[in-house]
Amino acid sequence: MTELLELDRLSVRFLLGQRATVRAVTDATLRLRPGRVLALVGESGCGKSVLAAALLGLLPGNAQVRGKAVLRGGIELLSAPEAVLARQVRGRLIGLVPQSASTHLTPVRTARSQLVETIRALGAATGADQLAERVGLNPADLDRYPHELSGGMAQRVALALALVADPQVILADEPTTGLDRPLVHRTVDLLAEAATDDRAVLLITHDLAAARRVATDVAVMYASRIVEAGPAEEVLTDPWHPYTAGLLAALPDGGFRPIPGHPPMLTELDRIEQEWGCVFCQRCPEVPGFAPCTGDPELREHGDRWVAAHPPC
Ligand SMILES: Nc1ncnc2c1ncn2[C@@H]1O[C@H](COP(=O)(O)OP(=O)(O)OP(=O)(O)O)[C@@H](O)[C@H]1O
Ligand SMILES: [Mg+2]
Repeated sequence: MTELLELDRLSVRFLLGQRATVRAVTDATLRLRPGRVLALVGESGCGKSVLAAALLGLLPGNAQVRGKAVLRGGIELLSAPEAVLARQVRGRLIGLVPQSASTHLTPVRTARSQLVETIRALGAATGADQLAERVGLNPADLDRYPHELSGGMAQRVALALALVADPQVILADEPTTGLDRPLVHRTVDLLAEAATDDRAVLLITHDLAAARRVATDVAVMYASRIVEAGPAEEVLTDPWHPYTAGLLAALPDGGFRPIPGHPPMLTELDRIEQEWGCVFCQRCPEVPGFAPCTGDPELREHGDRWVAAHPPC
C-alpha cells in the first residue's frame, strides 16, 4: 500500500459503569500518505486526542476500541500487543511531538544529554549534531538547559527527539498550545518540513489557521465523527459540511462569527443521530450565512473528498 497509515472505521467508546457510554471516536476512516501533512481539526472535546491515544495503545482500561489502523509494513495498531507498540511503534515507527516542548524536556539536563539518551535507547544510527542540523538548530544550542532555550528552540529539540528513529509518521497533538502566533507559524512550518517523501505528519489541532498554513489534507471532526475530509485547499475554501463552514466563519478573516451553541454531550450521540440523522443538526441553522442542508447524496464522495451524510435540517 502507498499509505503510511490507514485508519478504517476506528471507533472508541468509554464505558462509565452502568450509567453511560461516551462515544469518543466513531468510524474514523483516514489515510496518511507519504510527504503529506494531514490536519485533524475540530472543537475541544470532539475526540482528536482519543483517536491519537488509540493509535499509540495509550487508552485507559475503560476504553472499547473497534476498527483497524494499519501502518505501512503491516502492523495493525489497534490489536498489536503492548510489547510490539512499545518496542516497534512508539518513538520508532511513530514519532511523537508533545503539546508543550519546553515542559516536556527534563529541566536539569541539557538538550544534548536528553537527545543522546533517546538515540541510545532507540539504537539509532544518527548523531545528536546531525539531528540538530536537520531541524535547523545550531548544534551548540544542544548544550543549553531547557530554561536557556527559546520557545522555538525547544520546539526544534522536541522535533529532533521525535525524528531520532526516522519514523514514518510524526504525530503532533496540539503542538502549538500556548504559543504566540509567530511561534505557532514556525512550529507548524517545521513540522511540515518533516513531511518528506517517506514520512507523513498527523497534526492534531483546534487551530484552523495553523492547519490552513501547512496542511496538504484536512479531516474535520465533530462530536466524535470525521464529518469532512479532503485536500486542504479544497476543504478550506469550499466546505461541503456546514460544520466546516462554521469553523471557517469563526476565523478572523472569515468574519469572526463563532458557531453559536455547544457540541452535544458524547453520551447522547446515539439518541441525537436517531432523532436528527446528523450530529450537527441542532447547531446547523445557527451557522451564519449557511444555507440549510440539502442532503444531496451526490455530495458524499468525489475523488479524494468526502463528507458525512447531513440530511436536510
Ligand atoms: N477515560 C475517559 N473516560 C471517559 N471519557 C473520556 C475519557 N478520556 C476522554 N474522554 C472523553 O472523550 C472526549 C474526547 O476527548 P479528547 O481529549 O479526545 O478531545 P479533543 O478533541 O482532543 O479536545 P481538545 O481540543 O480539548 O484537546 C471528551 O468528551 C472526553 O471527556
Ligand atoms: Mg486533545
